[in-house]
Amino acid sequence: STMSIYQATTSAPVNIACIKYWGKRNESLILPTNSSLSVTLSQDNLRSTTTARADPSFAADCLWLNGKVDPIKPGGRLHTCISEMKRLRTAFEAANPDQPKIASFNVHICSFNNFPTAAGLASSASGFAALVYALAKLYALPQTPEELSLIARRGSGSACRSLFGGFVAWDMGSDDVTGLDSKARQVASESHWPEMEALICVVNDAKKGTSSTSGMQRTVVTSALLQHRIGYVVPSRMADIESAIADKRFGDFAEITMRDSNQFHAVALDTYPPIFYMNDVSRAIIAIITEYNRLSDQPKAAYTYDAGPNAVIYALTPNVREIAQLVLYYFPQAEKVIIGGQEVEAALPEGFNEAV
Ligand code: PMV
Repeated sequence: STMSIYQATTSAPVNIACIKYWGKRNESLILPTNSSLSVTLSQDNLRSTTTARADPSFAADCLWLNGKVDPIKPGGRLHTCISEMKRLRTAFEAANPDQPKIASFNVHICSFNNFPTAAGLASSASGFAALVYALAKLYALPQTPEELSLIARRGSGSACRSLFGGFVAWDMGSDDVTGLDSKARQVASESHWPEMEALICVVNDAKKGTSSTSGMQRTVVTSALLQHRIGYVVPSRMADIESAIADKRFGDFAEITMRDSNQFHAVALDTYPPIFYMNDVSRAIIAIITEYNRLSDQPKAAYTYDAGPNAVIYALTPNVREIAQLVLYYFPQAEKVIIGGQEVEAALPEGFNEAV
């Protein structure tokens, strides 16, 4: 027989939520307690790149993350994603008898993040999105990104949103038995609002303290504030931010984003025992952005924090340099920042009250 190589490589980007996913209503299917919305970052320095290969000689499925073996535990999330993808390939082969029979081969998967893993920089999102996408490519599957998002969700909830670029909602859905309506949807493509940019401030790139899985579990069980959030706050916020994005109203987009980050961290604090993801540097950046926004009638910058101390600041292109100059003024020890090929120098905007 002829020798064939079945291999595919692809990459997937990080996404950072403006309306945060925090809480599962079904742990095994990873069904969330609320819908969420994120921006997919298009920088090529915030991606997971994954190669998947199927071969009859492989003794077992195996995965390497940044060069180290990551065990595929039976019934675990990696295992679920890989077996769901094999199931789709099996169906594809049944419908297309001319296609090679590779669904039963074991796979070797190797994945690299070009940024710190598990530092609250959403490495699990890009990682599981790239894994699902690489297997879909290897298997030449006809499924849409929306359908693939159902499988990425089983790896890490937020991963379902990394199957799309631009502005992406994860609709919580209502089917608790199959979870088939809990999937990602593109709200607007990247070209809809090309001036939207994200400034990532790496406050600490060490591995985070409380994992999102155990953190949200404890929040769901202990926080009364979470019940208020999912019932009364998130539904209208989802509608409001989608309309702000549609009309490119940055001020409204920014206010909703900052309010939702604040409430997510309030819910973390309301968890018992409490969870602290932000630190003094995170809080200093909030104060700096708040003072900066006071200078104009509409906010020009929006901070947001995930399950870690690192800040992501959303802003429109004309304001990004000024914001970077401001952050560098307070953190002169930061690594140098290059924007548009030019190094950013520390500076304070006109009228800024330095004593924030
Ligand atoms: O997908 P997970 O389990 O890593 O959870 C991510 C949770 C947040 O990043 C804090 C919020 C979000 O919506 O991405």
